[in-house]
Amino acid sequence: MPAMAHVFVTRKLPFPALERLRAAHDVHEWPGELPPGPDDMRAHAREADALLTLVTDPVGADVLDAAPALKAIANMAVGTDNIDVEAAAARGIAVGNTPDVLTDATADLAFALLLALARRIVPGAAKVRAGEWRTWEPAGDLGADLAGATLGIVGWGRIGQAVARRADGFGMEVVHSSRSSGVPFDELLGRADFVSVHTPLTPETRHLIGTDALARMKPTALLVNTSRGGVVDQDALRAALHAGEIAGAALDVTEPEPLPADHPLLDAPSLLVVPHVGSATVRTRARMAEMAVENLLAALDERPMPHPVA
Ligand code: GLV
Repeated sequence: MPAMAHVFVTRKLPFPALERLRAAHDVHEWPGELPPGPDDMRAHAREADALLTLVTDPVGADVLDAAPALKAIANMAVGTDNIDVEAAAARGIAVGNTPDVLTDATADLAFALLLALARRIVPGAAKVRAGEWRTWEPAGDLGADLAGATLGIVGWGRIGQAVARRADGFGMEVVHSSRSSGVPFDELLGRADFVSVHTPLTPETRHLIGTDALARMKPTALLVNTSRGGVVDQDALRAALHAGEIAGAALDVTEPEPLPADHPLLDAPSLLVVPHVGSATVRTRARMAEMAVENLLAALDERPMPHPVA
């Protein structure tokens, strides 16, 4: 490894950790406000010993093939579905991610979405601004109680368990379903008043929440997804919302991202979409940058990454 390695960072990252990287290595930062496209990604990877990537940057075998010197990829995210991790491993390229530091922020967002749906926050705020708040309505703007309701958590990793801790504080009953623990998935769908999704996106979880799963949910149930857009079949969700098969959904993640403003999904009733902000707090993003930099500094020093992807 050269003393000063060539590192391509795929976006401007205004965090203190980047100073450490710049002090140690020859850092090339993509200057655009938007991510590099596939051609730019391959072109910049060509010279790189290491990449610092974001969830917006697909790193498939094409990028790896274009980058003969590549030794390490640090993804500034806990999810690594944007990276072909197997292809990287086959080429001896270390891949790292940023677990733990974003658990609370993401669980907070899942809960914020759950509360927003349950208490109709967004339609209520729109009503005020539209001048439609006429009086205190005894039977208007009614939402759902959290206390006593059942929250079904799909996936039982760090974030799912952090959501469960929050739900405890709200007096909810929690059930979960994962590959290795909890109740069967169909049972969870039938019992839950709220379903919150916390699985990584893998071939097994793609469209896990599809026509069949949505049909098993209660017509009063609300769905929250802060994991990856691909875990939910959006055509099936759109149909289920139009048909009243479930009562509402809130998504922090979609396919594609960004979701175009004229996307058909956005016609669906009782749907709240926010722009992939699960980890978007000042402290969390700075910590994610720190972990990504630590991963790169270790790998470029020929030490194991402190946060490797298993
Ligand atoms: C964000 O989506 C992440 O995986 O960190």
